[in-house]
Amino acid sequence: MLRIGVLASGRGSNLQSIINNIQEGKIKASIKIVISDKKNAQALDRADNYDIKSVFVNPAKYSSRMNFEKELLEMLNNQGVELILLAGFMRILSPFFIKKYRGKIMNIHPSLLPSFPGLHPQRQALDYGVKVSGCTVHFVDEGMDTGPIILQAAVPVKRGDTEETLAARILEKEHIIYPEAVRLYAERLLEVKGRTVKILEEEV
Ligand code: GRF
Repeated sequence: MLRIGVLASGRGSNLQSIINNIQEGKIKASIKIVISDKKNAQALDRADNYDIKSVFVNPAKYSSRMNFEKELLEMLNNQGVELILLAGFMRILSPFFIKKYRGKIMNIHPSLLPSFPGLHPQRQALDYGVKVSGCTVHFVDEGMDTGPIILQAAVPVKRGDTEETLAARILEKEHIIYPEAVRLYAERLLEVKGRTVKILEEEV
């Protein structure tokens, strides 16, 4: 069974959606460790609720980003992690880290990439005046939200939306497409060629 490691910094609702899908037998995988760079991340409590190993790694304790990342890598390796999921992890991973797990790190971002990468994508979408936004699951490369796109879902922007109302509407879709992307990966139904991710199931 696919061994997953999750990196999270906060609420952990995407982590929860993946746990739920595993529990329901929809994803053939198991989460071996949840690591947070924030002591009070709700994501750690969610892991505890399911007896999933949860660890707070304090970045302030490390002399450099590389040393912090080496610690993360050691923890992930010790658990035999094969796929890393970023779920609201508020740090950029360095090329050093990414090289070690190339093609094996996924992220979810609350916009239709390549529009509105980086911080506050929902606010960026509202400020720009788009009528449709959404969310994207992608493999992580060295850039900021630039890796090959696995799945996307569109969400309408409604009159009177605030950052919060739009974020909430997008989040509902996040909780559908992130588990689905993990399922496809676990079933080896994703094939990456350059920027393009082919979903093998669609051919059936
Ligand atoms: C989500 O909106 C995700 O797309 C973004 O950060 C947020 C994390 O939420 N990367 P949660 O911690 O999964 O609830």
